[in-house]
Amino acid sequence: TYVVTDACIRCKYMDCVEVCPVDCFYEGENMLVINPNECIDCGVCEPECPAEAILPDTENGLEQWLELNAKFSADWPNITTKKESPADADEWKGVDGKFDKFFS
Ligand code: SF4
Ligand code: F3S
Repeated sequence: TYVVTDACIRCKYMDCVEVCPVDCFYEGENMLVINPNECIDCGVCEPECPAEAILPDTENGLEQWLELNAKFSADWPNITTKKESPADADEWKGVDGKFDKFFS
């Protein structure tokens, strides 16, 4: 599966949802997640994200993100069309350690 990582937090560009063939993105207030049970590993969303937030879970150190994607995709609503990104999205692009912001 592919997972959305902290680079998405407060950027939420949503280009990813437009290309997913199985519509497996789910929307939280500050970020999106992928349902790992629905993702077919096609990889088309990865290059579409301007924040480079989407990675294959085969990369090292993504266990907490896989867990988070699995957990929240079960609760959050499905999203299939791009909406307006946060007004300050570009200011958050590339900022490190955004995980803390997820809960604030
Ligand atoms: Fe959707 Fe493919 Fe991205 Fe999985 S890898 S979330 S199926 S676009
Ligand atoms: Fe997030 Fe990138 Fe999609 S910032 S909403 S994963 S396009």
